[in-house]
Amino acid sequence: MSTSQGSKVVLVTGASSGIGEACAELLSVRGHIVYGTSRQLQVKPSVGYRMLELDVTRDESVRAAVRTVLEREGRIDVVVNNAGHALAGAVEDTSDEEAWRQLDTNVMGVLRVCRAVLPSMRERRTGRIINIGSLGGVVGLPFQGFYSASKFALEGLTESLRQEVEAFGIQATLVQPGDVRTGLTRSRVRAAAAGESSAYRESFEKVLSIIEKEEGDGVAAEVVARKVAEVMEEEDPRVRYSVGKWMQRAAVVAKPLLPSQTFEGILMSMFGLKRR
Ligand SMILES: NC(=O)c1ccc[n+]([C@@H]2O[C@H](COP(=O)([O-])OP(=O)(O)OC[C@H]3O[C@@H](n4cnc5c(N)ncnc54)[C@H](OP(=O)(O)O)[C@@H]3O)[C@@H](O)[C@H]2O)c1
Repeated sequence: MSTSQGSKVVLVTGASSGIGEACAELLSVRGHIVYGTSRQLQVKPSVGYRMLELDVTRDESVRAAVRTVLEREGRIDVVVNNAGHALAGAVEDTSDEEAWRQLDTNVMGVLRVCRAVLPSMRERRTGRIINIGSLGGVVGLPFQGFYSASKFALEGLTESLRQEVEAFGIQATLVQPGDVRTGLTRSRVRAAAAGESSAYRESFEKVLSIIEKEEGDGVAAEVVARKVAEVMEEEDPRVRYSVGKWMQRAAVVAKPLLPSQTFEGILMSMFGLKRR
């Protein structure tokens, strides 16, 4: 793929708000042919990109959206796997169904999209897949266990995929944002058992309010969109790029360098959690 010039056909999942919307807007302003997606078809007449209906938890929905882009444009050069949601609750308070729903969207959703776009990318021997991970996929966050699990899974999946598709001229990369001001905070799902009777109630509420405040003070979605655009233009993209506040990105660098108990102690004190 010629990465430094020309208009590319880009599919951005989850473009109805937040990071996906910012990516779709920025990339279309930069002259790319952009298809954004949402579970509910939305008409956005004032923007320069098209919206398609796509639910990443339904294979047929994913395949239909990809088919539409391929029929209209003849190719998909770049996929931004961005659609996702966040589940909050202690690991112990998480039901099988809640855990599965989190993984179904954030991990299996990426798999479904990759499976749908890779045949045409392989055929053309070019393509780029940008998965939106999270710094929560490098550092396990308290009371976001299955959100972190889903993003840790994306780390491994992207590393594996990358090695498999390289020979076909396809590059897979992760963009790992720290806290970003988006709709994720508002749409966060709380585990049903995280209510009054939870043994974790007090610390859960304390940690969640810190997390939500950090997200509210986070960087604008456009900052992540600019990073995605930058990665798209890289001739030879790395496996991962972090983006966000310096302090949060520093945690990723510090984790393998500090003794694990020191690192964990710092993290716990940031969330107001006490050691025994
Ligand atoms: N905000 C942060 O601090 C932060 C930090 C690190 C990583 N991230 C990641 O960034 C990505 C985007 O999140 P955001 O912060 O921009 O949140 P957001 O504003 O809530 O946007 C989430 C997007 O995902 C879509 N979506 C949710 N479930 C879907 C499904 N089953 N199928 C298809 N689309 C679905 C939503 O579209 P519809 O509801 O219209 O279908 C929406 O467009 C997520 O993967 C998130 O984990 C966010």
